Amino acid sequence: MIATERLLLREPEGKDRPALVELFTSPEVGTYIGGPRPRQEFERSLPEDNRRPGLFAVDLHGALIGIVTLDRLEPVSKSCVRVAGEEATLGYLFLPEAWGCGYATEACTAVLNWFTTALPGESVSLSTQTANSASIRLATKLGFTEVERYEAYGAEQWRGRWSPTRRPA
Ligand SMILES: CC(C)(COP(=O)(O)OP(=O)(O)OC[C@H]1O[C@@H](n2cnc3c(N)ncnc32)[C@H](O)[C@@H]1OP(=O)(O)O)[C@@H](O)C(=O)NCCC(=O)NCCS
Repeated sequence: MIATERLLLREPEGKDRPALVELFTSPEVGTYIGGPRPRQEFERSLPEDNRRPGLFAVDLHGALIGIVTLDRLEPVSKSCVRVAGEEATLGYLFLPEAWGCGYATEACTAVLNWFTTALPGESVSLSTQTANSASIRLATKLGFTEVERYEAYGAEQWRGRWSPTRRPA
């Protein structure tokens, strides 16, 4: 569990289910990540226990407003030379009503601080559609710098890398 000035980062709980469904089925949230998931199908596929390593539920006053993830994923582009499992990848999804308040910045900063304490010296990768300006703005604020742009899923993608030595002041 990680506490920040305004937020609590914790494991997902049963009470988060409606907010998680909302998050993954929201057309606004899905705009640059392949579209919203069909609600009924998603509800059926959502496990009762959503806990897994690297998944942080972002809690504001007891309610889930988003998630931050740290995964080690397969590379999606041929130009992405990273070997699967070699580098952690940051992801973030927040409910639209929580946008524009700095919550994503606050939560991701805390996760990256936690990561660098847990695995000192390791870098983190992040991929997002180039058109997703809010996401690139957030990544840049967090200290990610562009590594490459590539085509995947029918759109141009931006890949950035964060390294603990390159963190913003
Ligand atoms: C990407 C996403 C998380 C960004 O959320 P966001 O709310 O815009 O991000 P931030 O936390 O950076 O907050 C943005 C604004 O809050 C404002 N803000 C208000 N109060 C603030 C505070 N106390 N502290 C910091 N910023 C504050 C800032 O002005 C900031 O705007 P700026 O970047 O122009 O300076 C959000 O758009 C989202 O969930 N999108 C859908 C999912 C998605 O596409 N994810 C990316 C997949 S790779």
